[in-house]
Amino acid sequence: MLVLGVETSCDETSLAFYHTETGLIDQVIYSQIEQHQCYGGVVPEIAARTHSDRIVPLYHELLNRTQVRAVEIDGVAYTAGPGLVGALMVGACFAHSFAETCGLPKVAVNHLEGHIFSAWLPKMQVQWPCLVLLVSGGHTALILAQGIGKYVLLGQTLDDAAGEAFDKTAKLMGLPYPGGVYLDQLALKGDAERFKLPRPLIHQAGYDFSFSGLKTAAIRVWETCHQTDLDRADLAATFQNAVVDCLLTKTVSALKAHSVKQFAVVGGVSANSDLRQRLRSVLPSLGVDLLMPDVCYCTDNAAMIAAAGAARLVLGSQTPEAIQVVARWPIDQCFEIDEF
Ligand code: KG4
Ligand code: ZN
Repeated sequence: MLVLGVETSCDETSLAFYHTETGLIDQVIYSQIEQHQCYGGVVPEIAARTHSDRIVPLYHELLNRTQVRAVEIDGVAYTAGPGLVGALMVGACFAHSFAETCGLPKVAVNHLEGHIFSAWLPKMQVQWPCLVLLVSGGHTALILAQGIGKYVLLGQTLDDAAGEAFDKTAKLMGLPYPGGVYLDQLALKGDAERFKLPRPLIHQAGYDFSFSGLKTAAIRVWETCHQTDLDRADLAATFQNAVVDCLLTKTVSALKAHSVKQFAVVGGVSANSDLRQRLRSVLPSLGVDLLMPDVCYCTDNAAMIAAAGAARLVLGSQTPEAIQVVARWPIDQCFEIDEF
């Protein structure tokens, strides 16, 4: 089955073809970062308008690159939430119109479920149950994935998501939006031991996270130092080290408590070099396979939506005619969109 995936939940317009036999064929991504950078964050109206300008040219680019013909497509999968409603609506309308015109089945995909499926790109080799650390700009959670749509939320952030904390701290230090990747690069040159920052909830039972206090503590350090390039690099390294300590500690305790064959780290923050390097050194001793998608599948992309949607379409799942998108859609309520 050849599935067209559509992702427009935030500031990346993306389309992909995924085949259930051979895996990912290709994907195209238009990143809107330049349009939002001068505002220091994503402007929802600009995001929706840019999706609407780009989506059709991007579809033609995908056809050209892959040489797939429209008649070869067997189904359409699109992100229906969580995300920015106007932005989601553009992708949903495109997907519904396309499916309707070509007489194809369509399926609404939860963006977080898409991130989970990014673990197995470019070709699915799933072994349920799988423990997933989802770390993105809007979400931070430890999820026990037991099957398609069967996601047990073990813990999540009580305030800021890890990516949000990265971005806010980076912004304060004068780095461009989105700051996570710039802070990561800066941290390579810094001393992670120089400043003292807290590791919230690290010694508490359970799998919840909290990054708001850590972000505020970093802001306080920045305001009281000389704000030199060296200070910036040292604070970046200290902050990143503290975030990764929290993520790693909870991950290891969840892995000790749950018997799984695979562990996956997914979402934009899973591109972080320190997190990847420390997971690589810790995981082998726990006897679990580590799945770390290529960086091109960490941030928002349509390949993961096509892969998750294909898994659902193969099972006969289909979304009704009425177009519905949702700003909030918790991962542990990941059934069909018409149940919302
Ligand atoms: O998954 P994603 O593209 O969008 C959401 O669904 O939220 O994640 C974006 C987040 C941003 O906060 C960005 O700063 C962060 O991922 N990010 C990083 C890195 N690359 C992207 N954070 C830390 N280190 C990185 N290398
Ligand atoms: Zn995302």
